[in-house]
Amino acid sequence: MGSIHGLVFVLSLQFFVSNVYCLHRSQFKPNFLFGTATSSYQIEGAYLEGNRGLSNWDVFTHTQGKIRDGSNGDIADDNYHRYLEDIELMTKLGVNSYRFSISWSRILPKGRFGNVNMWGISFYNKVIDAILERGIKPFVTINHFDIPQELLDRYGAWLSAEIRKDFGYFAEVCFKAFGDRVKYWTTLNEPNLVTKFSYLSGKYPPGRCSYPFGNCTFGNSSLEPYIVAHNMILSHATAVEIYRKYYQEKQGGTIGIVIAAKWYEPLRNITADILAVKRALDFDQHWFLDPILFGDYPSEMRQILGPNLPTFTSDEKNLLKAKLDFIGINQYTTTYAKDCIHSSCAIDSYEGNAYVFTTGESNGNLIGTPTGLAGYYAVPWGIEKVVMHMKERYNNTPMYISENGYSQASNSSMTAADFVNDIERINFIHDYLTYLNSAIRKGADVRGYFVWTLIDNFEWFFGYTLRFGLHHVDFKTQERTPRLSAKWYSNFLKGSKIAKGVGSVMSSEY
Ligand SMILES: *[C@@H]1O[C@H](CO)[C@@H](O)[C@H](O)[C@H]1NC(C)=O
Ligand SMILES: *[C@@H]1O[C@H](CO)[C@@H](O)[C@H](O)[C@H]1NC(C)=O
Ligand SMILES: *[C@@H]1O[C@H](CO)[C@@H](O)[C@H](O)[C@H]1NC(C)=O
Ligand SMILES: *[C@@H]1O[C@H](CO)[C@@H](O)[C@H](O)[C@H]1NC(C)=O
Repeated sequence: MGSIHGLVFVLSLQFFVSNVYCLHRSQFKPNFLFGTATSSYQIEGAYLEGNRGLSNWDVFTHTQGKIRDGSNGDIADDNYHRYLEDIELMTKLGVNSYRFSISWSRILPKGRFGNVNMWGISFYNKVIDAILERGIKPFVTINHFDIPQELLDRYGAWLSAEIRKDFGYFAEVCFKAFGDRVKYWTTLNEPNLVTKFSYLSGKYPPGRCSYPFGNCTFGNSSLEPYIVAHNMILSHATAVEIYRKYYQEKQGGTIGIVIAAKWYEPLRNITADILAVKRALDFDQHWFLDPILFGDYPSEMRQILGPNLPTFTSDEKNLLKAKLDFIGINQYTTTYAKDCIHSSCAIDSYEGNAYVFTTGESNGNLIGTPTGLAGYYAVPWGIEKVVMHMKERYNNTPMYISENGYSQASNSSMTAADFVNDIERINFIHDYLTYLNSAIRKGADVRGYFVWTLIDNFEWFFGYTLRFGLHHVDFKTQERTPRLSAKWYSNFLKGSKIAKGVGSVMSSEY
């Protein structure tokens, strides 16, 4: 008897150790999606090939002074030609899914005012077929920032209600062409973030903003972001309506949207800052998700913005309710939020309209470890807070972590070893997955996780100066080299018992 008790004790101790202290693949369901994420403009290159039309990002990056290192995505990772090589990298990782986006101007060079480009259809068919052959499921973003320049020139793109027709048309072309094989669709990537970067601070195309939020020739930072968001929300709803009416039953897929989801903590333990956190969430994530799930904007936004916030007609409200199957969450960081109604604040060109100022510092202490991206601290517990908040507010709608990842700032004096020995990235992913798993244990319906990103890429405003890849890319030769984090992720996915740090990676074969 004694020895049986001893055995039980050893087994339960083992259980305890492996489930609480050691991150392990088996803590997530077998059908949990584990993947990597990319986006078309950031990796494809081949910007003039295959009958592709120009996008807003082609035109913007070719304008002097817009991108930190003066670069562009003309070639990027040359993934248009090297997609098979990149799919091999994923196969080696052992992921079961791949999140990528479709270049709108590759499929519809002139939006709905021109033909469907069969070369574009053919490219994505090849990608989808190649990953499926290797047991990797496509998780497709219909639009990730890049839109046909034609739509901007014709009617101002997202500023006009016209775009709802164009987006619905584009989405339907995608459902028709790829929906027999794609079971996970998302309409827009981070509309809440791109709206602010494009129309509040003016750092992304079309570079519209007004003083004091930014320095642009045209725009109105207090008004245009809300018009743009309104058109994005209704474009999303249009696409989902088309999918549900004509494709979903036949094709058997699901559709959602991807929101950039920072977490906020009150800067000071006072009511005003606790309310500032709520306001920051209203003006960031609830801004899009409340209309899509409940049919209207948060009332706090209406109170503050008044007539600058557009209204939905009753038909639109009916169209909107429960207009998604899942929420895609891009979670990177957490900051402190400070109230700016009762306190004076410096200008914040991201949260300023909410009368919120965000900072990573409180009384000289940082909220987390700095990463290569200024203002983006590693705060692993933030992912649990975001997921639990979404669970409560949106009735545990299924969620996917559609992006999470760590950036290294790169400079010309860095050596190959600096680039590849990315212990910080391993610790980042390990710790975020640990807190994600904690949220799942508390009942959050999270069904997948995608590392941003497979390979170093064109990182928007930062050009090639920020590296997020599990694989290093030498942009002169296009050579891809797996970082330690790629080996770590692969070991994790294979079910190895792995602690943090380099020892566990080095001691196992890859
Ligand atoms: C705003 O931009 C213009 C040119 O684009 C420049 O001359 C001016 O110095 C900038 N102002 C500020 C305050 O940065
Ligand atoms: C922005 O639009 C609002 C509402 O029409 C207006 O009151 C405000 O003056 C405009 N601001 C700028 C900088 O044009
Ligand atoms: C915040 O203040 C309240 C009382 O005002 C106190 O009960 C609570 O413990 C404080 N929280 C933190 C995190 O300091
Ligand atoms: C370049 O990166 C290395 C390695 O991270 C760092 O030690 C160095 O300070 C950086 N140099 C500059 C000029 O930023």
